[in-house]
Amino acid sequence: MQITLVRGDITEQHVDAVVNAANSSLLGGGGVDGAIHRRGGKAILDECRRLRASHYGGGLPTGRAVATTAGELPARWVIHTVGPVYSGSADRSDQLASCYRESLRVADELGAASVAFPAVSAGIYGWPMDDAARIAVGTVRSTPTRVGDVRFVLFTGDALAAFEKAL
Ligand code: AR6
Repeated sequence: MQITLVRGDITEQHVDAVVNAANSSLLGGGGVDGAIHRRGGKAILDECRRLRASHYGGGLPTGRAVATTAGELPARWVIHTVGPVYSGSADRSDQLASCYRESLRVADELGAASVAFPAVSAGIYGWPMDDAARIAVGTVRSTPTRVGDVRFVLFTGDALAAFEKAL
């Protein structure tokens, strides 16, 4: 597997699948989630609504992942995963690692060869960037997958530096 670090906007990535740092409602929000729904258009939200109705009445659990169309994005699919909210008192690292493992498992099911990840949980959900980067890189590296091209797409210079250090 080749791992690449890119500074930029995940909605502009030409990959088979982009991963969304969603929330369990799957109905949109701020950050990456807001950008993906804005740029990808209504087809993504429509499919998310159908998934909620058919499979996830109680919401998509933290650490799980599910795919939809990517609508008008250059990618073919969006893989929505729900990161844990950071807690200083409880260790939720396993849940964050699960987001990366489950996203790669869904990517394998789709037959996606290239996948772009944001720094899940490291924005609105408050995860310290260095730790989020260490978990992201360590988990992706140690997960058996047929995905050959993993791209971490970092929005800021600080995030990019944290991922460079982790890699
Ligand atoms: N491309 C790449 N990275 C981005 C982009 C973008 N277009 N926009 C933001 N980031 P966040 P979370 C970075 O908050 O912490 C939403 O409301 C951002 O700078 O998107 O998992 C959801 O609905 C940060 O480093 O995700 C949930 O409620 C990283 O992406 C909640 O936020 C993740 O930040 C999820 O919070």
